[in-house]
Amino acid sequence: MQEKLEALRRKYSLLGQDLETYLEGLLYSRSLTYWDYIHLDTLLTLQKPRTDFPDEHIFIIYHQITELYFKLVKVELELLSRESWQEEAPILKRLRRIQSYFRHLSHSFEIMMYGMESENFLRFRTALLPASGFQSVQFREIELMSTGLRNLVARDKQPLPEDLEALYNHIYWKYGNLDARTGEKTLTLRLFEEKYDAQLLELAKTWRHINLNTRLENYLSTGRGSAELIQTFRGLDVEINIHWRYVHLKTAAYYLKRGEGAIPSTGGTNWPSYLPPARQKILFFPAVWSEEEKNEWGKGTFIEHFHKEVEAYWRLSPPSKSTTT
Ligand code: HEM
Repeated sequence: MQEKLEALRRKYSLLGQDLETYLEGLLYSRSLTYWDYIHLDTLLTLQKPRTDFPDEHIFIIYHQITELYFKLVKVELELLSRESWQEEAPILKRLRRIQSYFRHLSHSFEIMMYGMESENFLRFRTALLPASGFQSVQFREIELMSTGLRNLVARDKQPLPEDLEALYNHIYWKYGNLDARTGEKTLTLRLFEEKYDAQLLELAKTWRHINLNTRLENYLSTGRGSAELIQTFRGLDVEINIHWRYVHLKTAAYYLKRGEGAIPSTGGTNWPSYLPPARQKILFFPAVWSEEEKNEWGKGTFIEHFHKEVEAYWRLSPPSKSTTT
């Protein structure tokens, strides 16, 4: 106790503060409770349906859950940008965390898929126009913190411009929310651009040299990079850019009845041709894929082959102890 008091006295004196006053404050402060700590009351007031359909709660809450997971992903990406990369173990640990967050999200989409009555959804969605998950700024931030703009530019926009701003203006999602009939940008996209373009361009500039892919490529260029690290990067790319995108597409298709006579999304876009991962071909870490794999990205054969490879890899070389904690 004496030692602890001494340590506290040193801490507060370094801050120019008087320890005794702080100790007295402890006498009066209320005990911390769970509900105050996590702001439960506030949290439970954040669901404000716009219709009387009870299933709209599920729709709002699941989007909020996803946004919280996205925040967890951003925390790890932020920490990864500050890692020294002297050792692989801390990198692997954070990559696995991100992968597990996205795995949880891909596996929990059934909360929506089986949770909401289709007929209810089709009715209450009309009250949400022109909002769309497409406007999730955190999803765009995750993309820009994970990889450089060059890897996010629409596939048919070759050759790539050099200028960062021009690259940003060709980012793939700017072509993903066009009016299916006129080809013009939808209101969904225009509102998003108005609110977030400047902020996202700034983020792209700040993260140009510290995004995860740049850090990986710099590391590989020094001749380092274990098979485990490469495999983990491959797994993460697939988890985000194939699994999550595919399950999301499946959910959209389930509700919006993909194919002929597809119901326009709240964003009013030609979503059936935009959302499939094999069409977008977005991948964050090109250095860990062969040209053939990149061409086959997101196709059924690719997914089948990848899953077999992962099974075989982990059978032969289980993750090292230092990285499993
Ligand atoms: C019934 C459930 C859902 C349906 C029917 C649906 C539908 C769609 C559609 C049609 C699009 C294409 C853009 C547009 O036309 O607006 C889209 C994009 C998107 N949605 Fe959803 N969505 C659902 C759930 C979610 C959830 C839970 C999230 C989580 C935040 C989400 C996040 C996104 C994102 C990030 C995009 C952009 C994807 C990209 O640009 O590749 N969606 N969604």
